Amino acid sequence: MGYIGRREAAPIIVEGLKKLEYRGYDSFGIATIGNGIELDKHQGRISDSSHSAGHLKGKIGIGHTRWATHGVPNDINAHPHTDCLNQIAIVHNGIIENYADLKRELILRGHTFRSETDTEVAAHLIEEAYESEKDLLSAVQNVVPKLKGSFALLIISKGVDQIIAARYASPLVLGVGDGEFFAASDMTPILDYTERAIYLEDGDIACITPVTVEIFNGKNQVQRPVELVDWSIEDTRKGGFAHYMLKEIYEQPQAFYNSVRAITRETIPAPIRNPESVTVVACGSSYHAGLIFKYLLEDSCAIPVRLDFASEFKYFSPPIKGVVIGISQSGETADTLSALKQAKGHNCTTLAIVNVLGSTISRIADFTLFMRAGPEISVAATKSFIAQLAILMQIIDFIGDGEYEEVLLSGHRAIEEVLLMDLSGAVELCRNANSIFFVGRGPFYPVSLEGSLKMKEISYIHAEGYAAGELKHGPFALLSKETPVVAICMPGETYGVMISNIKEMKARGAPVIALGEQGDLELSDVVDIFIPLPETHPFIQVLTSVVVLQLLAYHTAVALNRDVDKPKNLAKSVTVE
Ligand code: G6P
Repeated sequence: MGYIGRREAAPIIVEGLKKLEYRGYDSFGIATIGNGIELDKHQGRISDSSHSAGHLKGKIGIGHTRWATHGVPNDINAHPHTDCLNQIAIVHNGIIENYADLKRELILRGHTFRSETDTEVAAHLIEEAYESEKDLLSAVQNVVPKLKGSFALLIISKGVDQIIAARYASPLVLGVGDGEFFAASDMTPILDYTERAIYLEDGDIACITPVTVEIFNGKNQVQRPVELVDWSIEDTRKGGFAHYMLKEIYEQPQAFYNSVRAITRETIPAPIRNPESVTVVACGSSYHAGLIFKYLLEDSCAIPVRLDFASEFKYFSPPIKGVVIGISQSGETADTLSALKQAKGHNCTTLAIVNVLGSTISRIADFTLFMRAGPEISVAATKSFIAQLAILMQIIDFIGDGEYEEVLLSGHRAIEEVLLMDLSGAVELCRNANSIFFVGRGPFYPVSLEGSLKMKEISYIHAEGYAAGELKHGPFALLSKETPVVAICMPGETYGVMISNIKEMKARGAPVIALGEQGDLELSDVVDIFIPLPETHPFIQVLTSVVVLQLLAYHTAVALNRDVDKPKNLAKSVTVE
């Protein structure tokens, strides 16, 4: 986060970093230009401290909240980093991949390093270039081509009334105020002040003063439009909920409905409406949404879908052709971005499904469909997952003959119904477990993967999602009364075999929590805890079962006193490969 303008910079940056903390939260730091470069850096979370950085003076400043890549989280490795003379301060997102070579050369030339980070090389390189160029912008323009990897950089220097911002493969947006500018990884902290945004492109270097911004790509000056962001500041607040995650779970009926409504036959690009085959690339929860899509599209329309983890696709991509869909809440996940670039290299038609306007993935894809989830702050994805499914189900509906239109337009009502469900019995079983298995068949198998991901990331209980039929090929050896199984057993083709699987698990001592259709006495009779879901279309039962598993993970994590919105070691937007 950076600020330059008419107000004191430090308090604005402190508040901004609190909003950006979901991107990383192991340490933080701020630098302002006051009496020289004034610096304050700490291990830990800015939101946990009563930190105001009030002692840092000056109307120009930069700050950072870190998710460690090079060097453990401590005060010294926290950004900003400075040069030998403490005249230049820099914050950086991303990774400078050639930092080791650069560092060796800089040390040989007499530079002294304080931190273990890759970032510090940039501070020293700019120091050298500034000495010869005597101009901060030119110095950064000289240094940027030497850096390999990904970076969003903000740089300030003693005695220079500018912030220099540089971007390559890591997001950076400028907020345009009245006699002031902001710079940040996304618009969330800027919305407090302005809705006017300039999205920098790869290779851009911006020279920002309180009243002007000049943008260069390399050495050529370029124009970037000022865009209006339609998220409101209210969307970024907790609104009386104990956690962002709970608020976001409760926003799901609206997120689903808005996302369904946003997609019409006309908004779906022609190549996507009639594909021979589809490849999907994504990470984390977005990958699970892709797997649900695979089950549903193959079943409804007999169109083959290939699904890959984006992190694998780049290095082991198959001979792909046709349509490639990248799914990403943030639109910034480095692996998904690389995979889509790879697909473009194969002349595939690329479609991005993302939540964040102006995000990098939306800019490189041939076509983009935006979810209408609104800002998602909690690290664990919830409403974005439901919004992804809304769009993917709409795509299936428009590839087919439109038979799901009514179902999708009313799906939000069933989601509303399950929000208030009492899960206390299931929570009690889970909170005392060593390990939890989540199982399902067909599209409920990816639902079980998503349920287990939510459980492990926010409660820290080991959890695994499995295709229900696979449990007997190994994991049965782990079943015991301390190992609950959460089984999703909805009516349909696999109902009978699921009941058999559940009985096999019970016979091995595992307590079973089952999600089933309300009124299902056969199921409720064989399991320990029965969670009844509304009787609706199978597509919608996918949604309601996901929501119940999100709530189960949430309440279990709360019962264990976990840090729900910011689980340890994680970050929401993973912009490194
Ligand atoms: C991180 C987040 C997950 C998310 C994944 C993919 O790991 O913690 O919640 O599912 O990244 O993110 P994306 O923004 O590409 O959907």
